[in-house]
Amino acid sequence: MKFHVATWGCQMNDHDSEKLSGLLAGMGMEPVPHWSSADLVLLNTCSIREKAVHKVYSELGRLREEKKRRPFLIGVTGCLAQQEKEALFKRAPQVDLVLGTMALRQLPDLVREALEGGRRLIDTGAHPDNHLFPPEATRRGETAKALVSIIEGCNHACTFCVVPATRGPERSRPWKDVVEEVRGLVAAGFREVELLGQNVNSYAGGCDFADLVERIGELQGLEWIRFTTSHPMNFTPRLARLIVGHPKVAPFLHLPVQSGSDAVLRRMRREYTVDQYLERVSWLGEEREGVSLSTDFIVGFPGETDQDFQATLDLLEKVRFDASFSFIYSPRPGTPALRLKDDLSQAEKGARLRRLQQRQADLTEESNRRLVGRTVPVRIESPAATEAGHWMGRTADWKNVHLQAGPGRSLPFGELVQARITGAGPHHLRGEVA
Ligand code: SAH
Ligand code: F3S
Repeated sequence: MKFHVATWGCQMNDHDSEKLSGLLAGMGMEPVPHWSSADLVLLNTCSIREKAVHKVYSELGRLREEKKRRPFLIGVTGCLAQQEKEALFKRAPQVDLVLGTMALRQLPDLVREALEGGRRLIDTGAHPDNHLFPPEATRRGETAKALVSIIEGCNHACTFCVVPATRGPERSRPWKDVVEEVRGLVAAGFREVELLGQNVNSYAGGCDFADLVERIGELQGLEWIRFTTSHPMNFTPRLARLIVGHPKVAPFLHLPVQSGSDAVLRRMRREYTVDQYLERVSWLGEEREGVSLSTDFIVGFPGETDQDFQATLDLLEKVRFDASFSFIYSPRPGTPALRLKDDLSQAEKGARLRRLQQRQADLTEESNRRLVGRTVPVRIESPAATEAGHWMGRTADWKNVHLQAGPGRSLPFGELVQARITGAGPHHLRGEVA
């Protein structure tokens, strides 16, 4: 039996796919890189914006055609599965099983039942122990850094967001379990971990998030600790000091702001004002020397005026984010923002998004240029797809580096090399191995 898992969305989904793959491998099934030869195809889905949902349904359309040619099982997991539940079978009758985000460990039972001829199998229940997934059952991909979940769910209630509905309330793993998992990963050769949660800094697994980071930081052999995502209202001065000063905490912070207008933030129910956000940024120190700060923006939220959008551009100038991810507001089923009047045209929303993204591209290039001429540690992540003898790596502050290794030289996957940065664009740096 062969299986293929296709993944959309955030790192949490990437990591859930590693868990699902581990469960299937544990049943004696073998992974294949494409669905064309798979007996079971799992789509691990995202529903954060409508576009993500469209992608899943078009893939399901292709799989329906394939199913006319040969028999195989189709499963849908992840946020779309959790959101749609039984309705998924109506819209996509070719689907055999639906598995919610809190029922990962039910996968083997569902697959067994399906193999015995069971049809339209579903578990979207809230299994309270989903976050206690046994680490030894995870089958990690060939990545330079290991993803480690520490908290699932979100207790905030942003009016645009499906996550509280699709991922449930916050549940933290006990800190000893997390430390033991990371210890095992270091023993297996990983030098870098990324701690995952919809809101990592409200972690409460017997200690707080800063304590957890410090405890993990004591592990010998571990080089860099990252984490994502942080909500501004759960961010603390102590965490800021760890990012700036702890030798193993990567000097990088993703702190989504969403908008530069207090009126919009209020309607989004983000729980902070622009000033409170700026205060948190200031905890990193006046110069933010060596720390990269990135953020998320939503453009065209219902009722966003020209002045509101201008306030977002002003915030961009004030903070000079090293990177940002921006999206046009996408109305999501069951969210409170659906009730807000949304009368701005798509064309105007698109124009605002382009303005924001163009300015950010300049700022990112500027931020990247600051490294030119310096020699910095870079972790080797993969051979470059475009040129032989070239490699892709990451700096501690999460910038992509296109590296030239020199003829015939191979670079050590997953390890740090010292690289001299020779050039910079908005998307990546270029460098030579020192
Ligand atoms: N704390 C979460 C953030 C949720 S989603 C996490 O990272 O796990 C990531 C980003 O998607 C948000 O910060 C927001 O900018 C964007 N987003 C969420 N819902 C959206 C919507 N309905 N429309 C457009 N963008 C959205
Ligand atoms: Fe979504 Fe807001 Fe939580 S963006 S994940 S409800 S912090």
